[in-house]
Amino acid sequence: MNIPQSKIDEISASLDIVDVISAYTPLRKAGKSFMGRCPYHEEKTPSFSVSQEKGVFHCFGCGKSGNMFTFVMDMENFTFFDTVKFLADKANITIEFENEPFDPDRNKVEIYYDINKKAGKYFYEKLNSREGAYAKEYLNTRGLKDDTIVKFGLGYSLRDKDALYREFENDYTAEDIQGSGLILQLGAGEIRDRFRGRLMFPIFNEAGRVVGFGGRRMYDESTDEAKYINSPETKIYNKSKILYGLNFAKNAIKQKGFVLLVEGYMDLISLFQKGIENVVASSGTSLTQLHSKILSRYTKEVVVVYDADLAGQNASRRAIELLVENDINVSILELPYGDDPDTYIQKNGIDGFERLLNNRLSIIDYIAERYETDGKMNSPEGKTEFVREIIGLIVKMRDAIKRDFYIKGIAEKFSIYESIIRKELDSVLKLKSRGLTRETNTDRPVKKPKERVSKFSAVELVLIRLLIDSDDKTKSLLMNELEMELISNDTVRKIVNYIMLNIDSPEKITHIQLFNEFQDEEAKDIIGKALLDENLIMQDIKSKNHLGEANSVLSQLKLYNIRNKIKDIEIQIKSSNDYSPEILRLLNTQQKLKREQIKIEKSLRS
Ligand code: UTP
Ligand code: MN
Repeated sequence: MNIPQSKIDEISASLDIVDVISAYTPLRKAGKSFMGRCPYHEEKTPSFSVSQEKGVFHCFGCGKSGNMFTFVMDMENFTFFDTVKFLADKANITIEFENEPFDPDRNKVEIYYDINKKAGKYFYEKLNSREGAYAKEYLNTRGLKDDTIVKFGLGYSLRDKDALYREFENDYTAEDIQGSGLILQLGAGEIRDRFRGRLMFPIFNEAGRVVGFGGRRMYDESTDEAKYINSPETKIYNKSKILYGLNFAKNAIKQKGFVLLVEGYMDLISLFQKGIENVVASSGTSLTQLHSKILSRYTKEVVVVYDADLAGQNASRRAIELLVENDINVSILELPYGDDPDTYIQKNGIDGFERLLNNRLSIIDYIAERYETDGKMNSPEGKTEFVREIIGLIVKMRDAIKRDFYIKGIAEKFSIYESIIRKELDSVLKLKSRGLTRETNTDRPVKKPKERVSKFSAVELVLIRLLIDSDDKTKSLLMNELEMELISNDTVRKIVNYIMLNIDSPEKITHIQLFNEFQDEEAKDIIGKALLDENLIMQDIKSKNHLGEANSVLSQLKLYNIRNKIKDIEIQIKSSNDYSPEILRLLNTQQKLKREQIKIEKSLRS
């Protein structure tokens, strides 16, 4: 994703930061600058100041500052790339990819976006053609208004074997149409449209670009086919990242402070049409870590509204676990058995739905209710099982205060001694930490020295740089070989984790994206140094031997780790002055570590 600096300068020069920001918060001229209420935090009196001539903003209340690019990135949750496109559009500047260093993938990505966008248009036209009349009628009977159909870009795919392919074959190669997920090559040159005779739901990414489709079966005779089929994963459609409807829901989520999570396309559209806009759909794929990370960028409150059937219940259990793990507060809106959000709101209207929303259940009450309906809460065994299940969730919470809050809540509500819950929790926590440390510490330490609060090391910075700036081979070496425990600094670990999660996304990570993702001072310091500090550009990087450098980074991380362990053991030995068997064991371990240290040092020298 190389956008030439000249383009960025051109955009900055053509747009007025005051205009850009005014679209989000009203500004008034005040002396040399413009003032308004800060969109980053709640405030009554304006402390948000924008300098037109310098092109920057600063909030005297919350300390946020930046330029028009960082502002739009924050407000829209765009990537840097999408921000540039968005602002370029505003300024009527076209970004020609031809002028950039050649990157075949980047161009493919643009072609796939293009094909999907045109396909969306094509399906929409078909919905409104003679052949689409039946599908259109179907949408009407399901209560969808024309505005809604337009807003969500719904369409219809013809029943012919290759209608879309024939429409597109003059403009695109079969490989590209296939790469965009719309056709299947059946061998012997036979090509078939993926979607035939289906109601089409374009799937948008966060920035509102079409990346794929979901297609609903329309005709009864094809009941052997799945009710919905979806585009496959492509270079632009990463299923574990896309949440259906997020592009439409962003603002409402921020405004309402929470998001509803539903399962289906129709559920989301139906709620939206009724005015409930803070909703996203997981759409068939089960919720992933990335989904919940993405959601948590917008809000920490998720209300799960899955179907009331068994499949829905199981799906919500998985979703709850995952969300809780990511420090999101979860509650559950329960629908009557047999309903889904769409059917429920069609029958009971927005008032009915809001009543359920107001009566939503905490995770504890939700699980308790399930045990109660099964008649399990009356027996001691059932109750024990219940406590175990809840504790299984509480353990996943990273915040100790939150855990405490939940424990107190359960104890009070279900008349269970707090101490019993705590004991159970402690034992699970212990098991968990043992499981986690098993590989790294074969020998049990006597007294664990205080956790090292480590400052980041130069090697860690080089690691970040390589993950961003090196060739694919080096990156994949690092992805495969790096042991996260070896990174001693927490912030570095978070940054590396983030890069790894996003490393093969089409929009390659840039430092600007990283700055946007990590706002705290230490993280910014780390990223800035990793990417810009000339002193860290080692010999090998200068000679472009990324692979060699990566290998040396991996060894050095191991080495640091071993040296630290040796130091820890030294401290432990010094602090106990008797010659116990423990000391002997420590000395033994230390010997082993030292031998390993020497081995690595040797390999680094050669
Ligand atoms: P549902 O079967 O609940 O469908 O699947 P729905 O959304 O209520 O659709 P209508 O109301 O019958 O039209 C929920 C979601 O699971 C995915 C789709 O995203 C669907 O919206 N799904 C379902 C599939 O991907 N494939 C399937 O075969 C079925
Ligand atoms: Mn439905």
